[in-house]
Amino acid sequence: MDRIRIIGGAELQGTIPISGAKNAALPLMIASLLTEEEVVLENVPRLADVMQLKRILSNLGVDIAVRGRRHGETEDDGETLRINAKNIIDTTAPYELVSTMRASFWVIAPLVARMGHAKVSLPGGCAIGTRPVDFLLNVLEALGATIEIEAGYVISTARHGLKGGHIVFPKVSVGATHTALMAASLAEGETLIENAAREPEVKDLADLLIKMGAKIEGAGTSTITITGVSSLHGATHAVIPDRIETGTYAIAVAMAGGDIVLQNTRTDLLESAFDTLRAAGAEVETVANGVRIARNGNGILPVDVTTEPFPGFPTDLQAQFMALATRGQGTSKIRETIFENRFMHVQELARLGARVRLDGDTAYVDGIERLKGAPVMATDLRASVSLVIAGLAAEGETIVNRIYHLDRGFERLEHKLGRCGARIERISG
Ligand code: EPZ
Repeated sequence: MDRIRIIGGAELQGTIPISGAKNAALPLMIASLLTEEEVVLENVPRLADVMQLKRILSNLGVDIAVRGRRHGETEDDGETLRINAKNIIDTTAPYELVSTMRASFWVIAPLVARMGHAKVSLPGGCAIGTRPVDFLLNVLEALGATIEIEAGYVISTARHGLKGGHIVFPKVSVGATHTALMAASLAEGETLIENAAREPEVKDLADLLIKMGAKIEGAGTSTITITGVSSLHGATHAVIPDRIETGTYAIAVAMAGGDIVLQNTRTDLLESAFDTLRAAGAEVETVANGVRIARNGNGILPVDVTTEPFPGFPTDLQAQFMALATRGQGTSKIRETIFENRFMHVQELARLGARVRLDGDTAYVDGIERLKGAPVMATDLRASVSLVIAGLAAEGETIVNRIYHLDRGFERLEHKLGRCGARIERISG
């Protein structure tokens, strides 16, 4: 199993290209199941999760071609996928394929909406809480589908198609909002979604669906109205920049010190995280086609963070901020309100010397002057990268084990950081 080796202490200087968003690319790929025509997705990140979804879609009969690199393009340019779901040969997504990635469960919505049937294994994914799918199943039922659970599979049927309905989410859910958007786009009549997720990835999915002929109003706000159409057509769409990758490298600069431009990204995708970074003592500045982050000389100030649905502080940056807070000049308070078990990184950060006290959903981090390198183990995607961030500023050598988690969500991380002066390498085997 590959590992990452880091020798801490080097400042980061230069530019880091930001990839297309994993959490946008996955639902966009899934949305291609809604049409018989070709969907072309540009700026798709090269990640293990994208590869896994390609396998799941191929298994359903979807043709996916990757366009070759054109003159002048580099490995920093995302991939272009041509996806054609004309011939769906199977409406089953099996356990072996779905169990490693929760987002793959979302194929249930377009399959039921277009084919009238889906059999999808209950999902797996990062170990960050119980992560149920009840809201997603309620969406399908609200639109007239039947739901049965049998031997770990959800079987959903709508023989005569879906019908518009009224959905009020009890809690904001990204996946349930994706599900509702996809299902309602092909349902007969109008669907009203209240308390919808406002995440940029939801807006990106709605933008693609609208290009495909869907009638959607209000995406990006908490109330969305969809008027169903009988069929959708092909479209071309570029995936939005990865706001979590952007925030992660921004935090890495705040941690290691230095001056970096993050390219091909947008500050409006994560204003709350940038506000927190400024409060921690980093400089954040919008530049052409990106954002500049710097921390020179001054120390890291303690922060007070509560994770919330967008536009609040994202749960997917909580672990990375905790790594930063371990070197704060005082006590930081970090409260996790989205997932109940998203503190697995605490015990690993402690191996580097971090002082963190957990009290229910809140972590109190007493900042210390220096972390010390150690072998650590990645537990989930964002927790893994928090260990890399900590390693960048720790004295001596940090080895991050089990980095297959990292490969799910960070494209060529060691190259991107290495090019900016970090002493980081992948050890294979
Ligand atoms: C998406 O997961 C992201 N995944 C997650 O990123 C992200 O952490 C999360 O949204 C929150 O922003 C992808 O986009 C692929 P939710 P999702 O439904 O949609 C509860 C990463 O590291 N809930 O918004 O699965 C749930 O338990 C991943 O890239 C129910 O109770 O998250 C949680 O408390 C990790 N019942 C809350 O809602 C349901 O049926 C929000 O979860 C569904 C959710």
